[in-house]
Amino acid sequence: MISDCFIIFLIFISFSSAFENNTCSKQNGDCNITAQKINKYSKETNSKYHKYLKLIAEANEKYVPCDNTKCSCYTSVIKSDLEPFKNGITKKMLADVQSKGTKYQIIKHQLYRDETCMFPARCLGVEHFLIESLHNLPDAEFVLNTRDWPQIHKRQGTALPIFSFSKTNDYFDIMYPAWAFWEGGPAISLYPRGIGRWDVHRRTLGALGNSTAWSEKIPKAFFRGSRTSSERDPLILLSRDHPELVDAAYTKNQAWKSDADTLQAPPAKEVSFEEHCKYKYLFNFRGVAASFRFKHMFLCKSLVFHVGDEWLEFFYRPLVPWVHYIPVDSNADKKTIRELLEFVKNNDEVVREIAENGYNFIWNNLKMADVRCYWKRLIKKYAKLLTFKPTVDKKLKLIKGY
Ligand SMILES: *[C@@H]1O[C@H](CO)[C@@H](O)[C@H](O)[C@H]1NC(C)=O
Ligand SMILES: *[C@@H]1O[C@H](CO)[C@@H](O)[C@H](O)[C@H]1NC(C)=O
Ligand SMILES: *[C@@H]1O[C@H](CO)[C@@H](O)[C@H](O)[C@H]1NC(C)=O
Repeated sequence: MISDCFIIFLIFISFSSAFENNTCSKQNGDCNITAQKINKYSKETNSKYHKYLKLIAEANEKYVPCDNTKCSCYTSVIKSDLEPFKNGITKKMLADVQSKGTKYQIIKHQLYRDETCMFPARCLGVEHFLIESLHNLPDAEFVLNTRDWPQIHKRQGTALPIFSFSKTNDYFDIMYPAWAFWEGGPAISLYPRGIGRWDVHRRTLGALGNSTAWSEKIPKAFFRGSRTSSERDPLILLSRDHPELVDAAYTKNQAWKSDADTLQAPPAKEVSFEEHCKYKYLFNFRGVAASFRFKHMFLCKSLVFHVGDEWLEFFYRPLVPWVHYIPVDSNADKKTIRELLEFVKNNDEVVREIAENGYNFIWNNLKMADVRCYWKRLIKKYAKLLTFKPTVDKKLKLIKGY
């Protein structure tokens, strides 16, 4: 019934008529109100929800699923990241970024690296994928930034090639799949060795997402995380005003000293990804850079609210707002967030489909094989741009086979 309604307005995009029935069809309880009330109430709610429903309908109308063979969904990401280097990557350019990261070489299918790495577990998380594909990789030399933060701002004018896991469009950095797909992710009490092993999370969360019925999920927004950015504050504050709508609280981070660091409240306990899956609506915020949380949330098959669209990882661009998740402006205040939550609560079936779409995208397009494939394509395309033939740098150590 309800999805019929959804499909109808997708096809005809005749919003006004479809939406008149919308309020009623979403929740049977709403249907039984007096005629007068219907007029007053539905006019108001329809215009209130109209803008969201229109965005969803238009996004779905335009959406063309990407070709998911051989990680082709991400072809344009590699292309646009390498575009500034189309005239070639010289030895000098690499020497100029050397101080900002760890130098790697691939020569005759052997992997070499600087003696030290600023974050050893992060280098290991990257090397896992390079080693897996080594037999297939061309000779290459690159500098890899293991910090959270990207390095080459476009304001600086000159493009310099450095690999970073996350960036905004203001940076020249070339995105690579984060170490945390394997290891080296943030260590919290529940994941003392650091968030990693995406293959394992995929299996467990993916199964949980399939086995937990949408109707059994708690119809509330949920968030746990530390206060790495004040963009997270409005949701936390909304939760304090409206605990029936939102369960959001700050956890401790390493720098925690007093309740002031958790917005004047005692820190909350950290919560596993599995626990997140019990809730219908999950919020993703940027942290210092993009948040590793994002990809996991989709596999709960809960509806993801993604706050801010600036911070990227390599797989973000083919994810489409209003098709795979609900976008939230990074400046959104309590009122805006509250309105969005009222919209989703009153349009349950429409947003369930978004949750479903998000799950399917991540399940089908962010497999370990896709991560491996991305690395391989990236190195191949990148290596073609080198204007010199790399020869083994004696200062590096051999990594493969340790
Ligand atoms: C509402 O739904 C009813 C029955 O499903 C249909 O007959 C009617 O035309 C719809 N009204 C509008 C305005 O779409
Ligand atoms: C609507 O609600 C009233 C009061 O609760 C009830 O008496 C009536 O039977 C309901 N009508 C329908 C169509 O469910
Ligand atoms: C979940 O269901 C989808 C659709 O039926 C299926 O393709 C996928 O393999 C399932 N995921 C898991 C982890 O079993």
